Amino acid sequence: MKLAVVGSINIDQTVVAERIPLKGETLPGSSLHYIPGGKGANQAVAMAKLGAQVEMFGCVGDDDNGRQMVANLVKNGVETSHIKVAEGVPTGIAIITVGDNDNTIIVVKGANGLVDRAYVDSVKDALLSYDMVVLQHEIPLDTVHYVVELCAEHGIPTVLNPAPAAEVPMDIFEKVTYLTPNEHEAVLIFGKARSTEELLKAYPEKLIITQGSRGVSTALKSGEVLNVPVRKANVVDTTGAGDTLNGAFCVRISQGDDIESALKYANTTASLSTEKFGAQSGMPTAAEVEKAMEGAK
Ligand code: RIB
Repeated sequence: MKLAVVGSINIDQTVVAERIPLKGETLPGSSLHYIPGGKGANQAVAMAKLGAQVEMFGCVGDDDNGRQMVANLVKNGVETSHIKVAEGVPTGIAIITVGDNDNTIIVVKGANGLVDRAYVDSVKDALLSYDMVVLQHEIPLDTVHYVVELCAEHGIPTVLNPAPAAEVPMDIFEKVTYLTPNEHEAVLIFGKARSTEELLKAYPEKLIITQGSRGVSTALKSGEVLNVPVRKANVVDTTGAGDTLNGAFCVRISQGDDIESALKYANTTASLSTEKFGAQSGMPTAAEVEKAMEGAK
């Protein structure tokens, strides 16, 4: 199975401190790092590290950051031949603080803002040759919705991870195969009237809600609510854990796993990724995930 990601490519400028600062507070940092990130690129790398065939569609600036971020994707085995290099606009940057098992992130979208309908049209034939298309909310929402509609017309399954939080119109939700919000994103999309359980039961095996330390949940078609609890980890950095979960879920569901097995696998993969610093450097290989799952039996 071949997977495509249409999404963001960032360089993460990450400062490590004892804890994340409070509003208006200045803290000493212990180190500063420039490392690969972007929710789209992170999910593509998570998939490639697990052995999947994956292509990244997106846009970088014609600058050193862009060249480094594309080289990093290539190094990780991600196909990059349709990534657009735009002049006069910088590669996306995320300013991240990490401390005490927590983080803050501000993204300056840069070239990610140029992933528009015209770009999608220019790569359409290649994109439609994939078996599954994966999206997030770090490129223009209009493009996300356009790709979902295009894939639905062509019978290609889509996974939409609606992060950062933004509304998902109901006609778009109906067309995606899986929607994977966290609890806050779910409230923004569906409102507060229904509990998490009610929401999951309304959209079995389609809506998957991540709940931080309470794990990840979906409803099965039988009506039973499935909760996969968080695996214990020696957490160093949670940045990119959600991306790892999404990437791993896509790999396994596209390989024919049932949703319960795919979520268990994704949950273990995400938890392993938190044990090392950086969004991508802790993402495990398939062998490492299998070892951890065996050890947990
Ligand atoms: O999900 C983590 C990612 O969010 C970081 O890598 C950063 O680039 C932001 O996009």
